Amino acid sequence: MKPRTPFIAANWKMHSAPAGWDSEHSPFHPQPEVDVVVFPSMLDLPSCTTSDCTVGAQYGRPEKDGAFTGDVSMAMLQAHGSQYVLCGHSERRQHHHESDEYIAEQVSAAIDAGLTPILCIGETADERELRQAEEVIQRQLQTVINVISSKLKAENCFLIVAYEPVWAIGNGKTASAKDAQDMHAFIRSLLPPALRAHIRIIYGGSVKPTNAAALIAEPDIDGFLVGASSLHLEEFQAIINGAL
Ligand code: PGA
Repeated sequence: MKPRTPFIAANWKMHSAPAGWDSEHSPFHPQPEVDVVVFPSMLDLPSCTTSDCTVGAQYGRPEKDGAFTGDVSMAMLQAHGSQYVLCGHSERRQHHHESDEYIAEQVSAAIDAGLTPILCIGETADERELRQAEEVIQRQLQTVINVISSKLKAENCFLIVAYEPVWAIGNGKTASAKDAQDMHAFIRSLLPPALRAHIRIIYGGSVKPTNAAALIAEPDIDGFLVGASSLHLEEFQAIINGAL
């Protein structure tokens, strides 16, 4: 029995809903032992929110409204049924040049709008090679914590951290369970003491049924953010089953 309820998220990125997905009868309806959340594309969000699964958005803009062509606000996401939002995914840091400061604004706005943010942090291959991984993680996390610490309460923890080493995303390379556990323990040690036992820290980066069991067995790994494997419903279900 894990000390925190496992959290397993499907990040469909810019892919259509997986083959066999039936939003009327999603296999991922809420259950007490595990939180399962689907992050579809913006266009698939409405059909997924009318199903019985819990959904989140892959992105939201911090401002409440305004002249931001193409964007949606956190409040809009919340009003249309999202309960979670990804903030700072490495693909957005890279392709949309999102800074730590901008991501902190997003996380703060998400909490204000009643969403639970999933803050994604992770080092690149070069940073790991140069032994800067911990420094990068600390900077990415601390910039956000500084902005939102007054909003976080132990009894109602509106934050999930996703450790996603950039070098492990989308390429089949996973951090070993030990390396991931070491980084998760380090991340936990950086959290405000009153929140350490409550905040869920999930792992992302080529999670699949064959490596999920070893990862989830680690004490500080509270679940997964799954990309490629979540596009195959049986694989994703096997990952969920392994966390039960
Ligand atoms: P992956 O993606 O599982 O395909 O590596 C994870 C992610 O980007 O969140």
